[in-house]
Amino acid sequence: MLVMMDALLPTAFMLLLSTGCNSGQEALLPGSFDGAVGGSATFQTTVPSTGEELDTIIWEFTTDGSANAVTVYNSTNKGTESAYEGRISVNKSTGSMELRELTKNDSGNYSVNLGLNGTAETTLNMYDNITEANITGPTGVLIAGNGSANLSCQAAAGTLISRKWLKDGQSLSPSNRITFSNDSSTVSIDPVQGSDNGHYQCRLTNPVSTDTGSYHLTVNFGPEKVAIVGSEKAEVNSKVELACNASSVPPATFSWLVNGTEKETQHSFIIENTTLTDTGDYTCVASNNVTGLTSSAVHFLTVTAPDPPPGPESSESLSGGAIAGIVIGTIAGVGLIGGGGFFAYKKLF
Ligand SMILES: *[C@@H]1O[C@H](CO)[C@@H](O)[C@H](O)[C@H]1NC(C)=O
Ligand SMILES: *[C@@H]1O[C@H](CO)[C@@H](O)[C@H](O)[C@H]1NC(C)=O
Ligand SMILES: *[C@@H]1O[C@H](CO)[C@@H](O)[C@H](O)[C@H]1NC(C)=O
Ligand SMILES: *[C@@H]1O[C@H](CO)[C@@H](O)[C@H](O)[C@H]1NC(C)=O
Ligand SMILES: *[C@@H]1O[C@H](CO)[C@@H](O)[C@H](O)[C@H]1NC(C)=O
Ligand SMILES: *[C@@H]1O[C@H](CO)[C@@H](O)[C@H](O)[C@H]1NC(C)=O
Ligand SMILES: *[C@@H]1O[C@H](CO)[C@@H](O)[C@H](O)[C@H]1NC(C)=O
Ligand SMILES: *[C@@H]1O[C@H](CO)[C@@H](O)[C@H](O)[C@H]1NC(C)=O
Ligand SMILES: *[C@@H]1O[C@H](CO)[C@@H](O)[C@H](O)[C@H]1NC(C)=O
Ligand SMILES: *[C@@H]1O[C@H](CO)[C@@H](O)[C@H](O)[C@H]1NC(C)=O
Ligand SMILES: *[C@@H]1O[C@H](CO)[C@@H](O)[C@H](O)[C@H]1NC(C)=O
Ligand SMILES: *[C@@H]1O[C@H](CO)[C@@H](O)[C@H](O)[C@H]1NC(C)=O
Repeated sequence: MLVMMDALLPTAFMLLLSTGCNSGQEALLPGSFDGAVGGSATFQTTVPSTGEELDTIIWEFTTDGSANAVTVYNSTNKGTESAYEGRISVNKSTGSMELRELTKNDSGNYSVNLGLNGTAETTLNMYDNITEANITGPTGVLIAGNGSANLSCQAAAGTLISRKWLKDGQSLSPSNRITFSNDSSTVSIDPVQGSDNGHYQCRLTNPVSTDTGSYHLTVNFGPEKVAIVGSEKAEVNSKVELACNASSVPPATFSWLVNGTEKETQHSFIIENTTLTDTGDYTCVASNNVTGLTSSAVHFLTVTAPDPPPGPESSESLSGGAIAGIVIGTIAGVGLIGGGGFFAYKKLF
């Protein structure tokens, strides 16, 4: 059995006076520390272990102003309060105490008297672990520019100290569209935009635990930024591929018009072997089946005849040159005739 703690206090006070300025606080680091419900806490003394047992180790717990013994160990008394039986271990050479199976009720001040130097005090703050962090978001279909979305972050358990929001791994900041509730438990996005698509996380943190909830937000938008990628000039008998891209959620479907007539309903328009008549306007129409919007882009393709053959071989160079000469001569002759005709006509006046 424990003796009344009241009997101890005057004794400690007397000892304190008799040893002068020594308060005894050096036996524990000052301040507070944190414990998790269900976890354990070790009240570490600063006394170095000599291997020898201390004569006196008295731990007391104070909450709401009332002091209660935890465990007493001295030459005349040894014992642990029933509330602590089985859940404490005391190191006899340092006086350190481990307290296990912590509950909320273990929050409070703990003091230790290790004999001559008086008592030292520290504070234990208890927190529930945060568990099952979760984000709930809108259940309906969201369309960019029309409507708002609220994301709210909860946990099944836990004394919550702080919440932090992330989008695609980056810290989410408030803006004219994005506002946080006072406790940061809810993020309101109003109106929603295509840029809001992404992976949201809320990170809940308290001194003993952290947990993160996730949510994928889908905001349907587009198509926007429709663009055709491909060559603008091609030679006959070549392959041409025109690809159409658009920014859209869900992905856009595409159709192609050539000179205004619908030809294809694919992402790319492919001409396996061009002819001169493939020259024309190629229009890609992107459609989004959720937003009901369409958007298009036009690309002009010019198919050209091949360049004249390169440097002729020796045997055919003369004949080739001769033919060219004849052709040029003929054209020059036509020109002369025309010029003469024009001249003659003019002379009539
Ligand atoms: C809380 O977390 C601590 C440390 O991870 C663990 O020891 C303890 O058992 C947890 N408490 C509960 C109730 O699960
Ligand atoms: C042992 O501790 C008790 C208080 O729990 C105290 O009354 C008693 O005087 C102490 N014995 C010695 C020898 O200091
Ligand atoms: C008491 O603590 C000291 C120092 O941390 C350690 O070396 C020693 O093994 C502990 N004794 C017991 C019985 O746990
Ligand atoms: C904490 O203390 C309250 C009131 O003294 C008591 O009703 C409750 O059962 C205690 N909880 C635990 C986990 O010991
Ligand atoms: C613990 O002690 C501090 C000052 O030493 C006091 O302010 C606080 O109220 C005490 N806490 C409890 C639970 O008694
Ligand atoms: C008492 O205080 C002295 C000097 O401050 C220190 O060396 C010693 O370890 C303390 N003893 C205990 C049991 O706290
Ligand atoms: C989040 O909470 C919702 C509704 O309470 C539930 O349906 C869902 O399974 C939870 N998700 C996770 C990852 O816990
Ligand atoms: C916004 O959504 C509501 C309901 O879903 C719909 O009636 C309304 O026409 C939409 N407005 C615009 C501009 O899309
Ligand atoms: C989002 O929360 C705000 C404030 O609580 C509320 O006024 C608004 O109607 C909510 N919006 C939706 C889409 O639930
Ligand atoms: C393309 O068409 C031309 C003329 O019809 C033919 O000579 C050529 O072999 C074709 N090229 C390919 C790659 O099919
Ligand atoms: C498109 O129109 C131009 C001019 O009218 C024409 O030369 C071309 O052959 C047409 N292209 C196709 C693929 O119909
Ligand atoms: C809308 O288009 C997407 C992507 O092209 C497709 O997966 C989805 O099934 C379509 N939904 C409807 C209702 O047609």
